[in-house]
Amino acid sequence: MQIVKNIIDLKNTLKSSKKEEKKIGLVPTMGSLHEGHLSLIKAAFKSCNEVWVTIFINPTQFNDPKDFESYPKDFENDIKKINSISCNINVFIPESVNEIYQDNTNIDEFELGFINTVLEGISRPGHFDGVATIINKLFEIFRPQVVFFGEKDFQQTLVIRTLIDGFFPNIILVVCPTVRNKNGLALSSRNKLLSANSYKQCGIIFDCLLFAKENYLKIDYPDLLRKIKSKIEKTNDFNLEYFEIRDEITLEHFGKSNDKGRFRGFICVKVEGVRLIDNLLF
Ligand code: PAF
Repeated sequence: MQIVKNIIDLKNTLKSSKKEEKKIGLVPTMGSLHEGHLSLIKAAFKSCNEVWVTIFINPTQFNDPKDFESYPKDFENDIKKINSISCNINVFIPESVNEIYQDNTNIDEFELGFINTVLEGISRPGHFDGVATIINKLFEIFRPQVVFFGEKDFQQTLVIRTLIDGFFPNIILVVCPTVRNKNGLALSSRNKLLSANSYKQCGIIFDCLLFAKENYLKIDYPDLLRKIKSKIEKTNDFNLEYFEIRDEITLEHFGKSNDKGRFRGFICVKVEGVRLIDNLLF
């Protein structure tokens, strides 16, 4: 395992991989790794002959400074977990924000279009511009053949797709299925911020997605939304931020587009102030 902490060393290391024409797989993360991340790393390890995991809590994608401050950090364990998959996986863990941004933590301008104006795009203004900024930098540095992202952040995968289509047409995007705990809660680094009691009740989020999948063609939308809101808000400190059904490519509302596409339910629930997002293909 190579653990690289600065860009100069990284570029030198990557030079020899390029010479050997290795198929490079990239798994960008913000650390605090869980089984969801590990499934991405395993998928990369299976299909590529050089794998890089990046661990970097990217400041430009946090619209809320408190969220940035409280984002869980567990670098030592992250390295152990990666090593337990294979000692042949490499890690880039920049030693400072400057290593990536120099003195300029500005967001780059990307034309993300409509997908940036709905769901998380509304709730977290600037978030996807920050994601596109860091991912663009990482793609430029690594020039990977294949990149791995989780279905849990489905809207994020559409942003990555837009970036790839616009600037990196040779990169293959692999979206790996959401990993859930036994109650159905999608694994997320933010789950660590929940109290034990709330954590136990979070299965209701996935239950609501399953309920919606079962009923969205039978119940009209306002009624479905009311039912989901009441299921979620039965539990103290659980607040429904949004539940929406949208086309999985255009993110047009179900009912507004020609309804021939594939639709997904998207949900965001605030639990004790922690935003938990999930989605499901209908
Ligand atoms: O999904 C994440 O952890 C982050 O948004 C990502 C893709 C690593 C960019 O910082």
